[in-house]
Amino acid sequence: MSKDIESHLVESRSFPPNEEFSSNARISSLEQYEEMYKESIESPETFWAKEANDLNWQSDWERVLEWKAPNAKWFVGAKVNIAENCLDRHLTSDRKDKNAIIWEGELGDKRTLTYGELHTEVCKFSNVLLSEGVSVGDRVLLYMPMIPEAVVAMLACARIGAVHSVVFGGFSVDSIVDRLSDCEAKYVVTADGGYRRGKAIALKSNVDQALEKYSGVEKSFVVKRTGAEVPMLTGRDVWWHEVMDEASSSHVAEGFDSEHPLFILYTSGSTGKPKGILHTTGGYMVGTYATCKYVFDMNDDDVYWCTADVGWITGHSYITYGPLLNGVTQVMYEGAPNYPDFSRFWQMVEEYKVSIFYTAPTAIRAFIKAGNDLVTKHDLSSLRLLGTVGEPINPEAWMWYHEVIGGGRCPIVDTWWQTETGAHMVTPIPGAISTKPGTATRPFFGVDAAILDEDGNECPPNAGGKLVIRKPWPSMLRGIYGDEKRFLETYWSDYEGIYCVGDGARKDEDGNIWIVGRLDDVLNVSGHRLGTAEIESALVSHDAVAEAAVVGKPHEIKGQAVVAFVILKGDNNKGDTLVQDLKKHVTSVIGALARPDDLYLVLALPKTRSGKIMRRLLKELVATGEITGNITTLEDPNVINVLKAQVSC
Ligand code: PRX
Repeated sequence: MSKDIESHLVESRSFPPNEEFSSNARISSLEQYEEMYKESIESPETFWAKEANDLNWQSDWERVLEWKAPNAKWFVGAKVNIAENCLDRHLTSDRKDKNAIIWEGELGDKRTLTYGELHTEVCKFSNVLLSEGVSVGDRVLLYMPMIPEAVVAMLACARIGAVHSVVFGGFSVDSIVDRLSDCEAKYVVTADGGYRRGKAIALKSNVDQALEKYSGVEKSFVVKRTGAEVPMLTGRDVWWHEVMDEASSSHVAEGFDSEHPLFILYTSGSTGKPKGILHTTGGYMVGTYATCKYVFDMNDDDVYWCTADVGWITGHSYITYGPLLNGVTQVMYEGAPNYPDFSRFWQMVEEYKVSIFYTAPTAIRAFIKAGNDLVTKHDLSSLRLLGTVGEPINPEAWMWYHEVIGGGRCPIVDTWWQTETGAHMVTPIPGAISTKPGTATRPFFGVDAAILDEDGNECPPNAGGKLVIRKPWPSMLRGIYGDEKRFLETYWSDYEGIYCVGDGARKDEDGNIWIVGRLDDVLNVSGHRLGTAEIESALVSHDAVAEAAVVGKPHEIKGQAVVAFVILKGDNNKGDTLVQDLKKHVTSVIGALARPDDLYLVLALPKTRSGKIMRRLLKELVATGEITGNITTLEDPNVINVLKAQVSC
């Protein structure tokens, strides 16, 4: 019986870099990428020192890297302030009066902040924090809507050396309590509420309930966003606008040690108790700066838009830090992609002439389901580059993104990375690397990615195995906050001194890396280990299908049988033969071994609040008819009851 993961999906469509794009890109040929990649692997210290030298350091490093697995220190001994690099650094040039943030509220209200104005706000909030007693290293929990104040608060914490921990505004009271107590936060920044799908969502009331259970918070700063009535506890709660009105806008950014903690971000992904991923300053800064520069090929005249929430790592690295380090103008949006309907994003792309657009496969699949008319009525000709992140993108969804959104001309960067990695790890460099639908292609500079079998040998081309990173990289996590044992067990126990990412993958003959799914989700059918992504992509390649989730269910003979949950595109009727057709379709695309035994047509799938399918819940459901596992990260608990009824019929 094979211990390794098999791969059966064949994809032959290949898209060389668009010539016009390449000729203007920073990296414009495969040779240039390969040369730089070679240097980054053979002489990482020289490579990263060059990138770091684009930025301001208040004092120099003694060594670029100190590596004693699993602990890395980058730019050892240097003093740096990341907020100064995001803001002050731009104030001596034309960028001072350039928009840093073009913000749109869900209800259509608009605000812009130039680099100069953002700097003023950040300095003021830094002074507020200092005057309220926040010290270097104190943890500040943010529970905010997607408003510019979220970015201001993050940068102000960073500026004074406090450690922010952003909790996504959709998380519950208990999730806030868990995170407050795990990082022992002393301060909170929140808002009276925020808008989502046309409704004002209460935020402060969740914080208030959390603070009844956790008593360590000394001050809670509250932004007025919706104007909802909120009780203010004297001595603890202060209005943002009141303290900001009185604050001085002058603040000199002090340099902190390059390894000073920058933030803790809790991640549970689709499994288990949240881990407080710790990132530090200097390396993270260089990693997010360099990936924006090369992967998004950011230029001064770009208008960039990342649709993530600041509550996720994507919002940290590719809203708050990376784009501002690069001095680019970005669009920030408060609300849902389908408010008032699914044309909202495209209307905004047209209005703000967005040139770089970064979103998640889950959103792309929702747009496909909603139909093309909502897209094609808008002029998207400003777009020059598209990106995706968060999950494997099914090849058919990739093709739709390429043709319908990108007009066939925009390269797509399918960026594979994690909360833990801090920055892009496997991704096309858009002017240099040919893309294929469904693969994140090649490793970014300095990323020594490999696919290993159970014995630690590198897998031959197209054989599935575990994706690992063999060398340290600047933006890597520095631990799980307060839990070294879990850090070692989770990432470093499979192979000595090698970071194990927890995803299954294969590398094709051209060196492209294909993620086949989380290792926890791998199926074992008659001794064949199959990744979920390939079977799901086979289903999505059927004309009628918008989205699919695949899990294994115990089977007496096969070990596990394939069970599929399928969401159809908007206008498809559920003809009797469709279920059979879909099963046959999987057989023809992958082979009989991947043919689902059961296939359910469903209206929704259980997803995390960041849009990832929670396969472990489906797996438990098909095995036991029940769901007892942890559902605190589940976006919509109602989905479970509906699925339960369907599965038990
Ligand atoms: O399984 C991979 C998947 O998301 C995981 C990381 O999740 P998180 O820490 O929440 O970060 C998401 C944003 C970076 C990975 O281990 N993943 C992320 N991007 C991709 C992906 N899977 C395939 N292709 C991607 N582009």
